[in-house]
Amino acid sequence: MWHRAIPVDDLTDGTMTRVTLDGRDINLTLVDHEPRAIGDTCPHRGASLSEGQLRDGCVTCPAHLWRFSFVDGRKQGDARTSVPVYPTRVVDGYVEVDLPPAQPARSMREILLAHARGEKV
Ligand code: FES
Repeated sequence: MWHRAIPVDDLTDGTMTRVTLDGRDINLTLVDHEPRAIGDTCPHRGASLSEGQLRDGCVTCPAHLWRFSFVDGRKQGDARTSVPVYPTRVVDGYVEVDLPPAQPARSMREILLAHARGEKV
C-alpha cells in the first residue's frame, strides 16, 4: 500500500530523513537523484540508521558501523543480513513509499511454536 511521506524537495543528496509510516520508521534519501527508502532500524541492535553517515548510496550505522546499501538493503560484506527496501514513487511532488501490510502481533506462544517448527521468527 502506498503511503505519502514528504515533499520530494525536502530530500537532498547526502542527507537522510526518518519518517514514520504505518507505524514503521523509514529512512529516506536520494541516490542518483532517485528517492530511496529502507527500514530505519538497524538489524544488529536497533540503532536508527538515519542518524548514521551516508556515502556512495550506503548508510553506516552510528552504533557499530555496519553499512547497508540503499539500493538492495544488504549489509556490505554479509549478504545474509539486510534491511528492508521499499519501492518509492513521486506523486504530485510528494515521495510515496510502498509498504507491505504490517505483520499482526504474535503472542510469545505463537513465536515459540513457529521457532520449534523451524520458521524464521
Ligand atoms: S546497532 Fe547498528 S551496527 Fe550495531
